[in-house]
Amino acid sequence: MKEKKTDSAFDFFDENKIVNDEHKIILVTGGAGFIGSNFIRYLIRKYPNFKVINFDKLTYAGNLNNLTTIEDNANYVFFKGDVADQKDVKTAFEQFNPDYVVHFAAESHVDKSIINPDIFLQTNVLGTQILLNYSREHKVQKFVQVSTDEVYGSIDSNLNVTEEALIKPNNPYSASKASADLLLRVAYQTYGQSVNVIRACNNFGYYQFPEKLVPVIIHNAFNNLDIPIYGDGMNIREWMHVEDHCRAIDVVMQNGKSGEIYNVGTGNRWKNIDLAEYILDKMNINKKLISYVLDRQGHDVRYSVDSSKIQQELGWKPQIEFEDGLEQVITWYSNHMDWIEEITSGKYMNYYDDIYKPRMMETQ
Ligand code: NAD
Ligand code: DAU
Repeated sequence: MKEKKTDSAFDFFDENKIVNDEHKIILVTGGAGFIGSNFIRYLIRKYPNFKVINFDKLTYAGNLNNLTTIEDNANYVFFKGDVADQKDVKTAFEQFNPDYVVHFAAESHVDKSIINPDIFLQTNVLGTQILLNYSREHKVQKFVQVSTDEVYGSIDSNLNVTEEALIKPNNPYSASKASADLLLRVAYQTYGQSVNVIRACNNFGYYQFPEKLVPVIIHNAFNNLDIPIYGDGMNIREWMHVEDHCRAIDVVMQNGKSGEIYNVGTGNRWKNIDLAEYILDKMNINKKLISYVLDRQGHDVRYSVDSSKIQQELGWKPQIEFEDGLEQVITWYSNHMDWIEEITSGKYMNYYDDIYKPRMMETQ
């Protein structure tokens, strides 16, 4: 998997142009996961003078195969550690003394959080506080919390929430992310730390673990397996290509006003059933594979953010057309069956059975 051309969907910057020639050290937590690994590849390609430390525990969702295209780069270092472990975090900060911390590391899957909330609190809440403590001690220039639009809870139709909206999380995952956001507020208000919170909508893209909706649809379609749609399929999500998210994080890391929260979305909102049918159309796969299954408990009906603040204040806007991005991602998965097969063998299949077998009992 060394083919450089396929590690980014689009040439959204000129690789030969050094946009920031300062020497910065960036500690990226959770850099072996989906968004974190896309962000690391983005940084390594865009900033030849940045040193990037990937701090990751390598849970079931962490996969160093996501980084094979840049792993030999002299500016990239992998550090195996747990954000919820004081010793690991202390050692990494002493060793690398980062200028920026971009915090992706998290338990990220809502269905898992409903089955076992405890690890979500440990990693997503305690882990964030420990990182904030050492960031303060080491005078980190900017701490960026990669949060989520899920903290606002379910949004009524025709409403888009701004950063001023109340946080009303409805599941253990989103409650843990909302709690971490509050700790960022405390870091700013009480300790005067330089921080930003980014609340992004649903991402899709290369190297996404096949527990999330888009890769589940693509993987199951390729393998002629049922495509599980929760409840009536009418829940709405807002979708963004992961590389647009990476650009937003970069802009906020370097130019975000300290203490501010930025929503990051596209306005590209789909009912789950419509999205599943659209992807199957693109893949020329029969829609009969779609199977309605038992709904997620506490399933949020609709997410929808107003992203005008980051657009107006920092000049970010999404650049990747949904249709183009999705086609690239489908092609990528079809060319990376080895990547997905490695994941879907072994322990993943136990997970798949745990999550879906009880649901399948209530198919249409
Ligand atoms: P992911 O599950 O693919 O990756 C999570 C990464 O964190 C993995 O590499 C894992 O090994 C690592 N990790 C987990 N626990 C750790 C710990 N205790 N210490 C160190 N590393 C640990 O997640 P993702 O989808 O890439 O999401 C990344 C971040 O973005 C999360 O904070 C998530 O809340 C947020 N987010 C995700 C989306 C989305 O659509 N996927 C949207 C908005 C925000
Ligand atoms: O909104 C941002 C959030 O998006 C992130 O903070 C989370 O980390 C990320 O996991 C994602 O959460 P969702 O719950 O929205 O994503 P998921 O892919 O799990 O589900 C998307 C929608 O599709 C949701 O309404 C549930 C539904 N779904 C999901 C799966 C996995 C199905 O109908 N069938 C499925 O098999």
